[in-house]
Amino acid sequence: MNLIVAVDRNWGIGRDNGLLVHLPEDLKYFKRHTLDKVVVMGRKTLESMPGGKALPKRTNIVLTGNRDYEAPGCVVVNSEEELFTVLEQYDTDDVWLIGGASMYNRYFGMCDKLFVTKIDADLDADTFIFNLDEDSNYVVSSQSEPQTENGITYRWLVYERAK
Ligand SMILES: NC(=O)c1ccc[n+]([C@@H]2O[C@H](COP(=O)([O-])OP(=O)(O)OC[C@H]3O[C@@H](n4cnc5c(N)ncnc54)[C@H](OP(=O)(O)O)[C@@H]3O)[C@@H](O)[C@H]2O)c1
Repeated sequence: MNLIVAVDRNWGIGRDNGLLVHLPEDLKYFKRHTLDKVVVMGRKTLESMPGGKALPKRTNIVLTGNRDYEAPGCVVVNSEEELFTVLEQYDTDDVWLIGGASMYNRYFGMCDKLFVTKIDADLDADTFIFNLDEDSNYVVSSQSEPQTENGITYRWLVYERAK
């Protein structure tokens, strides 16, 4: 399984159940990686998407404790056990964990590659994830040149488990 996330300087990822900043090129980067693949998310992240709708051209898997939850175009799973049973049918390289914080913080240890968009700004987040730079089990295996959009500079990094 892979993970993809955008973080600010404090490893903040969201505010008011939304993203911190609109970065169109980063959204394209996200799309390029996840298109035609399987995306796994928590219920709040689905509801934070435009119109609360499934991402097109992807298999959307949504985790919620609510057994009556309905999400058109999504595979709804109600437990961790059910999630991993469903995921057995897919190639692990094709599965992308796309948030939010509860999902990242619980399942990052199961991910082989972690694609982190590192935004060089403090964006006043209310939702945070673990700081991979403080975990010696992870190393940066690739890093892009800085990108600048809407006055915000960021880089695309890939973390992998240290050998
Ligand atoms: N920067 C980024 O790249 C990025 C990416 C994605 C999301 N985000 C941001 O992250 C924030 C949302 O994160 P969040 O942590 O609040 O919410 P979340 O992880 O998206 O969803 C949490 C919900 O998922 C369900 N869930 C999680 N683990 C479960 C389990 N083991 N069993 C059953 N259900 C489970 C529960 O749903 P029920 O309450 O229905 O039971 C829980 O309330 C938003 O601000 C969003 O914009 C940022």
